[in-house]
Amino acid sequence: MKIKLAVLPGDGIGPEVVEQALNVTKVICKKYGHELEYNYAICGAHAIDEVGDPYPDETHQLCLESDAVLYGAVGDPRFDNDPTAKVRPENGLMAMRKKLGLFANIRPIQTFDCLVHKSPLKDELVRGADFICIRELTGGMYFGEKFESDEMAYDTDIYTREEIERILKVAFDYARSRNKHLTVVDKANVLASSRLWRKIAQEMAAKEPDIKTDFMFVDNASMRMIQEPKFFDVMVTENTFGDILTDEGSCITGSMGLLPSASIGTYTSVYEPIHGSWPQAAGKNIANPLATILSAAMMFDFSFSLKDEAELIRKAVNESLLQNVRTGDIQVEGEKIYSTSEVGEWICEYIANS
Ligand code: IPM
Ligand code: MN
Repeated sequence: MKIKLAVLPGDGIGPEVVEQALNVTKVICKKYGHELEYNYAICGAHAIDEVGDPYPDETHQLCLESDAVLYGAVGDPRFDNDPTAKVRPENGLMAMRKKLGLFANIRPIQTFDCLVHKSPLKDELVRGADFICIRELTGGMYFGEKFESDEMAYDTDIYTREEIERILKVAFDYARSRNKHLTVVDKANVLASSRLWRKIAQEMAAKEPDIKTDFMFVDNASMRMIQEPKFFDVMVTENTFGDILTDEGSCITGSMGLLPSASIGTYTSVYEPIHGSWPQAAGKNIANPLATILSAAMMFDFSFSLKDEAELIRKAVNESLLQNVRTGDIQVEGEKIYSTSEVGEWICEYIANS
Protein backbone atom coordinates (compact mmCIF):
# COMPACT_ATOMS: atom_id res chain seq x y z
CA MET A 1 0.00 0.00 0.00
CA LYS A 2 1.11 3.58 -0.69
CA ILE A 3 0.91 5.85 2.34
CA LYS A 4 1.36 9.60 2.20
CA LEU A 5 1.76 11.16 5.61
CA ALA A 6 1.74 14.78 6.76
CA VAL A 7 3.94 15.20 9.83
CA LEU A 8 3.18 18.19 12.08
CA PRO A 9 5.49 18.06 15.11
CA GLY A 10 4.37 21.44 16.53
CA ASP A 11 5.71 22.83 19.82
CA GLY A 12 7.28 21.71 23.09
CA ILE A 13 7.82 17.97 23.26
CA GLY A 14 5.84 17.52 20.02
CA PRO A 15 8.92 17.09 17.77
CA GLU A 16 10.56 14.52 20.08
CA VAL A 17 7.54 12.25 20.46
CA VAL A 18 6.53 12.58 16.81
CA GLU A 19 10.02 11.57 15.72
CA GLN A 20 9.65 8.29 17.60
CA ALA A 21 6.16 7.63 16.21
CA LEU A 22 7.43 8.36 12.71
CA ASN A 23 10.34 5.95 13.20
CA VAL A 24 7.90 3.27 14.31
CA THR A 25 5.75 4.02 11.25
CA LYS A 26 8.80 3.64 8.99
CA VAL A 27 9.77 0.30 10.51
CA ILE A 28 6.22 -1.02 10.20
CA CYS A 29 5.99 0.11 6.56
CA LYS A 30 9.29 -1.55 5.77
CA LYS A 31 8.30 -4.78 7.46
CA TYR A 32 4.93 -5.05 5.71
CA GLY A 33 6.06 -3.70 2.34
CA HIS A 34 4.18 -0.40 2.35
CA GLU A 35 5.55 2.53 0.44
CA LEU A 36 5.78 5.49 2.81
CA GLU A 37 6.07 9.11 1.74
CA TYR A 38 6.11 11.73 4.49
CA ASN A 39 6.35 15.51 4.48
CA TYR A 40 6.84 17.89 7.39
CA ALA A 41 4.80 21.03 7.93
CA ILE A 42 4.73 23.72 10.58
CA CYS A 43 1.97 24.60 13.06
CA GLY A 44 1.47 26.19 16.48
CA ALA A 45 3.72 28.75 18.19
CA HIS A 46 6.48 27.63 15.94
CA ALA A 47 4.49 28.67 12.85
CA ILE A 48 3.46 31.98 14.43
CA ASP A 49 7.15 32.78 14.87
CA GLU A 50 8.01 31.77 11.32
CA VAL A 51 5.08 33.04 9.27
CA GLY A 52 2.66 34.71 11.70
CA ASP A 53 -0.02 32.03 11.32
CA PRO A 54 -0.40 28.94 13.58
CA TYR A 55 -1.99 26.89 10.76
CA PRO A 56 -0.62 28.26 7.48
CA ASP A 57 -2.27 27.49 4.16
CA GLU A 58 0.63 25.35 2.99
CA THR A 59 0.24 23.18 6.05
CA HIS A 60 -3.47 22.84 5.37
CA GLN A 61 -2.88 21.95 1.71
CA LEU A 62 -0.38 19.28 2.70
CA CYS A 63 -2.87 17.80 5.19
CA LEU A 64 -5.60 17.76 2.51
CA GLU A 65 -3.31 15.98 0.04
CA SER A 66 -2.13 13.38 2.57
CA ASP A 67 -3.72 10.10 3.66
CA ALA A 68 -3.25 10.85 7.36
CA VAL A 69 -1.72 13.46 9.65
CA LEU A 70 0.65 12.65 12.49
CA TYR A 71 0.45 15.54 14.92
CA GLY A 72 2.51 16.38 18.02
CA ALA A 73 1.22 19.20 20.18
CA VAL A 74 0.90 22.97 20.19
CA GLY A 75 1.23 25.54 22.94
CA ASP A 76 3.78 27.87 24.45
CA PRO A 77 3.93 29.60 27.85
CA ARG A 78 4.64 32.90 26.08
CA PHE A 79 1.03 32.86 24.92
CA ASP A 80 -0.56 31.13 27.93
CA ASN A 81 0.48 34.01 30.15
CA ASP A 82 -0.61 36.71 27.75
CA PRO A 83 -4.40 36.98 27.49
CA THR A 84 -4.02 39.93 25.10
CA ALA A 85 -2.16 37.95 22.42
CA LYS A 86 -3.89 38.40 19.05
CA VAL A 87 -2.92 35.01 17.63
CA ARG A 88 -2.42 31.95 19.78
CA PRO A 89 -0.99 28.53 18.92
CA GLU A 90 -4.36 26.98 19.88
CA ASN A 91 -6.06 29.04 17.14
CA GLY A 92 -4.11 26.90 14.70
CA LEU A 93 -5.42 23.71 16.24
CA MET A 94 -8.98 25.06 16.03
CA ALA A 95 -8.45 26.07 12.40
CA MET A 96 -7.12 22.63 11.56
CA ARG A 97 -10.05 20.87 13.26
CA LYS A 98 -12.56 23.09 11.48
CA LYS A 99 -10.96 23.08 8.03
CA LEU A 100 -10.38 19.32 8.00
CA GLY A 101 -13.90 18.77 9.39
CA LEU A 102 -12.55 16.70 12.31
CA PHE A 103 -15.84 16.42 14.16
CA ALA A 104 -15.15 13.16 16.00
CA ASN A 105 -12.33 12.87 18.49
CA ILE A 106 -11.84 9.28 19.64
CA ARG A 107 -10.01 8.96 22.94
CA PRO A 108 -9.57 5.45 24.33
CA ILE A 109 -9.07 5.25 28.11
CA GLN A 110 -7.26 1.98 28.56
CA THR A 111 -5.38 0.67 31.53
CA PHE A 112 -2.25 -1.42 31.37
CA ASP A 113 -2.13 -4.08 34.05
CA CYS A 114 1.54 -3.45 34.76
CA LEU A 115 0.84 0.25 35.40
CA VAL A 116 -2.21 0.18 37.63
CA HIS A 117 0.00 1.06 40.59
CA LYS A 118 0.64 4.43 38.92
CA SER A 119 -3.01 5.37 39.06
CA PRO A 120 -4.11 7.49 42.02
CA LEU A 121 -7.19 5.25 42.19
CA LYS A 122 -7.42 1.89 43.96
CA ASP A 123 -6.11 -1.10 42.06
CA GLU A 124 -9.43 -2.98 42.03
CA LEU A 125 -11.26 0.06 40.61
CA VAL A 126 -8.79 0.56 37.78
CA ARG A 127 -7.70 -2.91 36.71
CA GLY A 128 -9.56 -3.81 33.55
CA ALA A 129 -11.09 -0.37 32.99
CA ASP A 130 -11.38 0.15 29.26
CA PHE A 131 -13.65 2.66 27.64
CA ILE A 132 -13.75 5.11 24.78
CA CYS A 133 -14.67 8.74 25.00
CA ILE A 134 -16.01 10.19 21.78
CA ARG A 135 -15.71 13.93 21.96
CA GLU A 136 -17.48 16.21 19.47
CA LEU A 137 -14.67 18.41 18.19
CA THR A 138 -15.91 21.13 15.85
CA GLY A 139 -18.91 22.63 17.63
CA GLY A 140 -20.10 23.99 20.96
CA MET A 141 -18.45 26.79 22.90
CA TYR A 142 -15.11 26.33 21.19
CA PHE A 143 -16.56 27.54 17.90
CA GLY A 144 -19.77 29.41 18.81
CA GLU A 145 -19.99 33.18 18.59
CA LYS A 146 -17.65 34.93 21.01
CA PHE A 147 -17.45 38.42 22.40
CA GLU A 148 -14.72 39.92 24.53
CA SER A 149 -14.44 43.35 26.14
CA ASP A 150 -13.07 44.49 29.47
CA GLU A 151 -16.55 44.59 30.97
CA MET A 152 -18.17 41.53 29.47
CA ALA A 153 -17.32 38.39 27.56
CA TYR A 154 -19.23 35.39 26.30
CA ASP A 155 -18.94 32.15 24.37
CA THR A 156 -21.95 30.52 22.75
CA ASP A 157 -22.65 26.83 23.24
CA ILE A 158 -24.33 26.14 19.92
CA TYR A 159 -25.16 22.81 18.25
CA THR A 160 -27.27 21.98 15.21
CA ARG A 161 -29.25 18.78 14.73
CA GLU A 162 -26.93 17.78 11.91
CA GLU A 163 -23.83 18.12 14.09
CA ILE A 164 -25.39 16.12 16.89
CA GLU A 165 -26.71 13.36 14.64
CA ARG A 166 -23.39 12.76 12.90
CA ILE A 167 -21.39 12.44 16.12
CA LEU A 168 -24.05 10.24 17.73
CA LYS A 169 -23.94 8.00 14.67
CA VAL A 170 -20.20 7.51 15.20
CA ALA A 171 -20.91 6.72 18.86
CA PHE A 172 -23.67 4.16 18.18
CA ASP A 173 -21.46 2.45 15.58
CA TYR A 174 -18.59 2.33 18.04
CA ALA A 175 -20.79 0.92 20.79
CA ARG A 176 -21.99 -1.76 18.38
CA SER A 177 -18.40 -2.81 17.69
CA ARG A 178 -17.69 -3.09 21.43
CA ASN A 179 -19.92 -4.04 24.37
CA LYS A 180 -23.06 -2.30 23.06
CA HIS A 181 -23.28 0.15 25.93
CA LEU A 182 -23.43 3.87 25.15
CA THR A 183 -23.52 6.66 27.72
CA VAL A 184 -24.58 10.07 26.47
CA VAL A 185 -23.12 12.76 28.71
CA ASP A 186 -24.79 16.17 28.83
CA LYS A 187 -26.15 18.88 31.12
CA ALA A 188 -29.75 18.70 29.96
CA ASN A 189 -31.08 19.88 33.32
CA VAL A 190 -29.60 23.34 32.64
CA LEU A 191 -28.40 23.81 29.07
CA ALA A 192 -30.63 24.17 26.00
CA SER A 193 -27.95 22.73 23.72
CA SER A 194 -27.77 19.66 25.96
CA ARG A 195 -31.55 19.22 25.76
CA LEU A 196 -31.30 19.05 21.98
CA TRP A 197 -28.50 16.46 22.33
CA ARG A 198 -30.65 14.38 24.63
CA LYS A 199 -33.76 14.65 22.45
CA ILE A 200 -31.88 13.53 19.35
CA ALA A 201 -30.04 10.79 21.25
CA GLN A 202 -33.38 9.45 22.52
CA GLU A 203 -34.81 9.45 18.98
CA MET A 204 -31.78 7.59 17.69
CA ALA A 205 -31.62 5.17 20.63
CA ALA A 206 -35.19 4.08 19.85
CA LYS A 207 -33.94 2.94 16.45
CA GLU A 208 -30.89 1.17 17.93
CA PRO A 209 -32.52 -1.38 20.25
CA ASP A 210 -29.41 -3.58 20.34
CA ILE A 211 -27.46 -0.84 22.10
CA LYS A 212 -28.04 -0.15 25.78
CA THR A 213 -28.11 3.65 25.86
CA ASP A 214 -28.07 5.63 29.08
CA PHE A 215 -27.89 9.32 29.87
CA MET A 216 -25.78 11.01 32.48
CA PHE A 217 -25.28 14.61 33.53
CA VAL A 218 -21.68 15.69 33.13
CA ASP A 219 -21.13 16.46 36.82
CA ASN A 220 -22.36 13.00 37.71
CA ALA A 221 -20.28 11.43 34.92
CA SER A 222 -17.10 13.05 36.20
CA MET A 223 -17.77 11.47 39.59
CA ARG A 224 -18.73 8.09 38.18
CA MET A 225 -15.53 7.96 36.14
CA ILE A 226 -13.41 7.78 39.27
CA GLN A 227 -15.89 5.88 41.42
CA GLU A 228 -16.56 3.15 38.89
CA PRO A 229 -14.58 3.57 35.65
CA LYS A 230 -15.53 0.05 34.59
CA PHE A 231 -19.16 1.18 34.25
CA PHE A 232 -18.31 2.83 30.93
CA ASP A 233 -17.93 1.25 27.50
CA VAL A 234 -18.48 4.08 25.02
CA MET A 235 -19.16 7.62 26.17
CA VAL A 236 -20.16 10.44 23.83
CA THR A 237 -20.27 14.11 24.68
CA GLU A 238 -19.96 17.66 23.43
CA ASN A 239 -16.68 19.48 22.85
CA THR A 240 -16.04 21.22 26.19
CA PHE A 241 -17.25 18.36 28.39
CA GLY A 242 -15.15 15.94 26.34
CA ASP A 243 -12.06 18.07 26.79
CA ILE A 244 -12.43 18.05 30.55
CA LEU A 245 -13.51 14.43 30.97
CA THR A 246 -10.67 13.03 28.89
CA ASP A 247 -8.03 14.76 31.05
CA GLU A 248 -9.74 13.18 34.02
CA GLY A 249 -9.77 9.89 32.15
CA SER A 250 -6.04 10.02 31.60
CA CYS A 251 -5.49 9.99 35.35
CA ILE A 252 -7.30 6.68 35.61
CA THR A 253 -4.53 5.10 33.58
CA GLY A 254 -1.74 6.64 35.63
CA SER A 255 0.00 8.83 33.09
CA MET A 256 -1.09 11.28 30.46
CA GLY A 257 1.84 10.04 28.41
CA LEU A 258 -0.08 6.91 27.49
CA LEU A 259 -3.23 8.18 25.84
CA PRO A 260 -3.49 8.35 22.06
CA SER A 261 -6.28 9.89 20.04
CA ALA A 262 -7.73 10.01 16.57
CA SER A 263 -9.67 12.90 15.12
CA ILE A 264 -11.79 11.88 12.18
CA GLY A 265 -14.34 13.56 9.97
CA THR A 266 -14.78 14.98 6.52
CA TYR A 267 -11.22 15.11 5.18
CA THR A 268 -7.87 13.70 6.31
CA SER A 269 -7.81 12.22 9.82
CA VAL A 270 -5.35 13.45 12.45
CA TYR A 271 -3.56 11.26 15.01
CA GLU A 272 -2.14 12.88 18.11
CA PRO A 273 -1.34 12.21 21.77
CA ILE A 274 -3.72 13.92 24.18
CA HIS A 275 -0.98 15.18 26.50
CA GLY A 276 -0.13 18.54 24.99
CA SER A 277 3.20 20.30 24.55
CA TRP A 278 4.74 20.07 28.08
CA PRO A 279 7.12 22.99 27.40
CA GLN A 280 9.17 22.42 30.57
CA ALA A 281 10.39 19.12 29.16
CA ALA A 282 11.02 20.27 25.59
CA GLY A 283 14.40 19.24 24.17
CA LYS A 284 15.29 17.13 27.22
CA ASN A 285 14.54 13.74 25.65
CA ILE A 286 12.51 12.70 28.71
CA ALA A 287 8.91 12.76 27.44
CA ASN A 288 6.98 9.52 27.12
CA PRO A 289 6.58 8.72 23.41
CA LEU A 290 4.01 5.94 23.93
CA ALA A 291 0.88 8.09 23.46
CA THR A 292 2.14 9.22 20.06
CA ILE A 293 3.31 5.74 19.09
CA LEU A 294 -0.12 4.39 20.07
CA SER A 295 -1.68 7.17 17.99
CA ALA A 296 0.27 5.81 15.02
CA ALA A 297 -1.26 2.40 15.78
CA MET A 298 -4.72 4.00 15.63
CA MET A 299 -3.72 5.50 12.27
CA PHE A 300 -2.91 2.09 10.76
CA ASP A 301 -6.16 0.78 12.15
CA PHE A 302 -8.56 3.60 11.23
CA SER A 303 -7.10 5.28 8.17
CA PHE A 304 -5.61 2.25 6.42
CA SER A 305 -7.53 -0.72 7.90
CA LEU A 306 -4.16 -2.41 8.47
CA LYS A 307 -5.04 -4.37 11.60
CA ASP A 308 -1.92 -6.54 11.81
CA GLU A 309 0.32 -3.49 11.61
CA ALA A 310 -1.67 -1.74 14.36
CA GLU A 311 -1.64 -4.85 16.51
CA LEU A 312 2.13 -5.27 16.23
CA ILE A 313 2.69 -1.68 17.37
CA ARG A 314 0.45 -2.26 20.39
CA LYS A 315 2.23 -5.51 21.14
CA ALA A 316 5.62 -3.79 20.98
CA VAL A 317 4.41 -1.06 23.34
CA ASN A 318 3.07 -3.66 25.76
CA GLU A 319 6.31 -5.58 25.63
CA SER A 320 8.38 -2.45 26.31
CA LEU A 321 6.27 -1.86 29.42
CA LEU A 322 6.63 -5.44 30.59
CA GLN A 323 10.41 -5.28 30.15
CA ASN A 324 10.49 -1.97 32.07
CA VAL A 325 11.82 -0.02 29.11
CA ARG A 326 10.07 3.09 30.36
CA THR A 327 10.44 6.83 30.66
CA GLY A 328 10.55 8.44 34.11
CA ASP A 329 6.82 9.18 34.40
CA ILE A 330 5.96 5.47 34.51
CA GLN A 331 9.16 3.73 35.56
CA VAL A 332 9.15 1.55 38.66
CA GLU A 333 11.46 2.56 41.48
CA GLY A 334 15.07 1.49 41.19
CA GLU A 335 14.87 0.69 37.48
CA LYS A 336 16.76 2.58 34.80
CA ILE A 337 14.94 5.57 33.39
CA TYR A 338 14.94 5.41 29.61
CA SER A 339 14.94 8.47 27.38
CA THR A 340 12.31 9.27 24.77
CA SER A 341 14.54 8.09 21.96
CA GLU A 342 15.69 4.95 23.79
CA VAL A 343 12.09 3.85 24.26
CA GLY A 344 11.37 4.58 20.59
CA GLU A 345 14.46 2.70 19.44
CA TRP A 346 13.64 -0.31 21.60
CA ILE A 347 10.14 -0.48 20.12
CA CYS A 348 11.46 -0.16 16.54
CA GLU A 349 13.92 -2.94 17.15
CA TYR A 350 11.26 -5.17 18.67
CA ILE A 351 9.05 -4.65 15.61
CA ALA A 352 11.90 -5.26 13.17
CA ASN A 353 12.84 -8.51 14.91
CA SER A 354 9.40 -9.99 15.38
C1 IPM B 1 -7.05 18.98 23.71
C2 IPM B 1 -6.39 20.26 24.13
C3 IPM B 1 -6.90 21.41 23.28
C4 IPM B 1 -8.40 21.52 23.49
C5 IPM B 1 -6.19 22.74 23.58
C6 IPM B 1 -4.70 22.63 23.38
C7 IPM B 1 -6.76 23.87 22.82
O1 IPM B 1 -6.58 20.50 25.47
O2 IPM B 1 -6.88 18.58 22.53
O3 IPM B 1 -7.73 18.37 24.53
O4 IPM B 1 -8.86 22.18 24.44
O5 IPM B 1 -9.14 20.95 22.70
MN1 MN C 1 -7.70 18.97 26.53
